[in-house]
Amino acid sequence: MRIDILCLFPEMVASPLDQSIIKRARERGLVNIVIHNIRDYARDKHHTVDDYPYGGGPGMVLKPEPIFEAAEAIKLQLGVSEMPIILLTPQGRLFSQAVAQELARHSHLMLICGHYEGVDERVCEHLATDEISIGDYVLSGGELAALVVVDAIVRLIPGVLGSQDSASIDSHSSGLLEYPQYTRPPVYRGWPIPAVLISGNHGEIAQWRRRQSILRTAKRRPDLLEKGNLCDEEKKWMLENLLNPK
Ligand code: ADE
Repeated sequence: MRIDILCLFPEMVASPLDQSIIKRARERGLVNIVIHNIRDYARDKHHTVDDYPYGGGPGMVLKPEPIFEAAEAIKLQLGVSEMPIILLTPQGRLFSQAVAQELARHSHLMLICGHYEGVDERVCEHLATDEISIGDYVLSGGELAALVVVDAIVRLIPGVLGSQDSASIDSHSSGLLEYPQYTRPPVYRGWPIPAVLISGNHGEIAQWRRRQSILRTAKRRPDLLEKGNLCDEEKKWMLENLLNPK
C-alpha cells in the first residue's frame, strides 16, 4: 500500500511514522508512506499557502492552488487518474474501525491535512473524494488526525502485526470492547488474576473472555452492544450480571 500525506508541517507527522510497528512495516516494504509539504507547491515568491476568508471573519483559509497542484503532481507521478483523496476535517464522517477496514483495502491513499480556519471549499467539492473527522473536537490541524488514521490502517495490512490474530481480536473488530488482559506475576500486591485463565481449559477461557467483553461493553459503551451479535443465552447472562454484579 502507498499513502501520500499532504500537510503544512511535515516534521509533525514524520517522527511518529518512524517508530515501532509503522517503522517496521515501512522497512519491510508493506507500506510506502510519502510526506509532502503543501508549501512546496505554492508558486509565488513567498510560498503563500493561505489567505483571508472572503466575506470576512477570523483566521486564514488554505488556498486551493497548492493543494490541487500537489495532488495532481502525485497522481501524475503514480500514473493514476483516480484514487481516494481524503481530507481530514472536523466536518467529515466519523472515523471508526469499520472505516479503517474499508480504507485498508485500497492500494493507494492520499490524505490532505487542513490547517488554520479551514480549507477552501473547492478542495472539498472538486478534489477530495472523502472527508474524515477523528472525533467531535477541533484540532489545530489535520496532521494529528492523519496520524491516527494512518496508524489504524497500517496495522490492518496483512503481515504488519506479528500475528494476524492480534488485529482480529482487537477492541471494536468484533464490535465489542476487548476483554481484560493479564500477564505475570499471577498475584501482584495481593491482587490475583482470574483463576480461569490458568485453568488450562480453553473452552472456559474463551467463554470467560466473551462474557467479559459483553459485560464491559454493556457498562461502558452500551451503544456498541447491537454490533456484538449476542445470542439469547448471552443476553440473559448479561442482564443477570448487570443486575447482580459479583
Ligand atoms: N482537523 C481539525 N480537527 C479535526 C478532527 N477532529 N478530525 C480530523 N481533522 C481535523
